[in-house]
Amino acid sequence: MTDKERILLIVPEELIGERVLVRACRQGDGPAIHAAIEESRDHLWPGMPWVEKMVDVEDCETYVRRRIADFILRLDLTYGIWEPTTGRYLGGTGLHRIDWDVRSFEIGYWIRKSDEGRGFVTDAVRLLTAMAFGQLEASRVFLRVTESNERSWRIPERLGFAHEGTIANEIRDAEGTLHPIRYYGMTVERWRTLR
Ligand SMILES: CC(C)(COP(=O)(O)OP(=O)(O)OC[C@H]1O[C@@H](n2cnc3c(N)ncnc32)[C@H](O)[C@@H]1OP(=O)(O)O)[C@@H](O)C(=O)NCCC(=O)NCCS
Repeated sequence: MTDKERILLIVPEELIGERVLVRACRQGDGPAIHAAIEESRDHLWPGMPWVEKMVDVEDCETYVRRRIADFILRLDLTYGIWEPTTGRYLGGTGLHRIDWDVRSFEIGYWIRKSDEGRGFVTDAVRLLTAMAFGQLEASRVFLRVTESNERSWRIPERLGFAHEGTIANEIRDAEGTLHPIRYYGMTVERWRTLR
């Protein structure tokens, strides 16, 4: 795929689910993201090093502007998870490590501490997976989850992703410890059989 073809691809900026609104970052989202990170620092996985760089509101707004730039160029598609009724920022998600030639996408996510366990992440991942296999014509969608983070890998399991394997020493956390990672994948063929 050429740069021009990639940049001109139509990518939805808003997805509405049963419980959440998933929308692309907008200028001015920084303060809402900062508040959610501040209440969640202790629960965010230590293998999410970007969190440590988000110290103040300006760091978060700078992050937002970079994500907007990448979204426009279709290099990375980062979205926020919002509660439609209250307009509250709940967490982040997106399609990352994009290979447009293969059409493969990695889904990542986190939710603020006070909104865990309400089905918001599951709803967001369901929406992004459907968009990837729909509008973006994905051949493969995958997730990489630390073996010890069972709460997280239950999400792809719930949505019908296949546990493709566990790779040892695949990620190093902020303290320098190596961890195994579970790979979960959904091929377009599997997606069609589940629909
Ligand atoms: C891992 C993480 C994303 C899980 O989020 P979560 O809030 O537990 O996810 P969900 O709410 O979508 O799903 C969890 C539970 O909500 C339940 N739930 C509650 N209300 C629900 C509803 N109305 N609809 C659907 N599910 C609902 C689900 O059944 C599920 O429960 P179960 O696992 O006991 O069956 C979250 O703990 C987190 O952000 N952790 C820190 C960062 C992190 O680890 N990110 C992932 C890196 S790979």
